[in-house]
Amino acid sequence: MGGEVWILGGSGRSGQAIAAQLVPRGMAPVLVGRHAERLDDAAARVDGARTVVAPSVEAMADEIRRQGPAVVVNTVGPFTVTAPPITRACLAVGDYVDLANDVAAVTGVLGLHEAASDAGRSLVTGAGFGVTATESVVVGLCAGRPAPVRVRVDMVPSMEMAAGRLGEALAASLVEGLPGVEGGRRYGGRRYRDGRLAPAPIGGEPARLVLPDGERVTTASLPLGELVAAQRASGAPDVVAASSEAPASPLMRVLLPPATALLASSRVRSFARRRLAQVQVKARPRPRPHSWGRARLEWADGTVQEGWLRVGEAQEFTGAVPAEVARRLLSGEGRPGAYTPAALFGPSLAEACGGTYLPAPAHPVD
Ligand SMILES: NC(=O)c1ccc[n+]([C@@H]2O[C@H](COP(=O)([O-])OP(=O)(O)OC[C@H]3O[C@@H](n4cnc5c(N)ncnc54)[C@H](OP(=O)(O)O)[C@@H]3O)[C@@H](O)[C@H]2O)c1
Repeated sequence: MGGEVWILGGSGRSGQAIAAQLVPRGMAPVLVGRHAERLDDAAARVDGARTVVAPSVEAMADEIRRQGPAVVVNTVGPFTVTAPPITRACLAVGDYVDLANDVAAVTGVLGLHEAASDAGRSLVTGAGFGVTATESVVVGLCAGRPAPVRVRVDMVPSMEMAAGRLGEALAASLVEGLPGVEGGRRYGGRRYRDGRLAPAPIGGEPARLVLPDGERVTTASLPLGELVAAQRASGAPDVVAASSEAPASPLMRVLLPPATALLASSRVRSFARRRLAQVQVKARPRPRPHSWGRARLEWADGTVQEGWLRVGEAQEFTGAVPAEVARRLLSGEGRPGAYTPAALFGPSLAEACGGTYLPAPAHPVD
């Protein structure tokens, strides 16, 4: 395996989780960021890491063009802002992976498919827990079958939270996730209907699920990157993406539409971003032993298939996916174009990141 793997935002939570997963896969990461001291602290915890200091995303793009890493892993949100300059730089020198989890950013990177194919580069977006855990189940269940008519994906992350500030990147991703997405209001929810993105309430279509280990969880509609990935992986005209993190209570469903309507104002939005970034997150143990991705597919003849992917702590899985994607890209297993992770590498990717399918596939799924 040749070439360097750069992690933009190398001192952040996700950056460090990814760096820790690159090392056992035989790669020494290059941590890229704005603050030399924070980067040095982070690099001291990772075998063989070196650092590149670049004061802004534009400066990171310049360094990518100058030094030519083989793979760039972008963890700096909001990805609607950072993916365009970084993918432009990568198309000239190497492959690109990001942690985007909102519909706008995932769709934006997938829209570069032709440019990436022409340049002979791979762009992989949505390489975190939500997209990968749900899409992998859909890809496995669809193998060798015609397109289903209806798909629902559910993600149930179990995350340990360390105490600290929520931070700018995550705050901006939370506030800026849906603007520019077709098919509904700027801050309204989405689902696919008749093959097109259409309005749907955030927190709608609640479902009480029994996890394979017997625990009960409620999930409700939350239009994140997995909505787009599940539609593309299945070809189904009717798709909904739900999460245990969605506000499913009847009260929240009444309060949410006026609250999200306020975000249409850029002043309210920038205020919300600044306040959210300062929010102190309390330390919290993970709420359940496993995180889960689930898909339920229905075909025109009435056949229904349900499958689960069981993984451990969600943030750890989010560290493993970009690391495994980078390893496979460096080994020449990718192909030119823009993809979500399991669309490019199949269901075996999640297994290589510690995931287990339930029920186990009856035949090899790749
Ligand atoms: N897909 C998924 O499942 C998934 C999971 C987790 C996170 N995410 C996304 O990944 C992103 C990072 O999350 P995180 O928890 O790792 O956040 P974090 O701990 O705050 O780390 C963000 C990193 O980005 C850097 N950064 C922030 N704004 C920057 C800017 N304008 N220019 C250059 N560098 C900048 C920060 O550097 P400084 O130290 O210099 O501030 C930090 O290193 C978020 O957008 C989040 O939504 C996705």
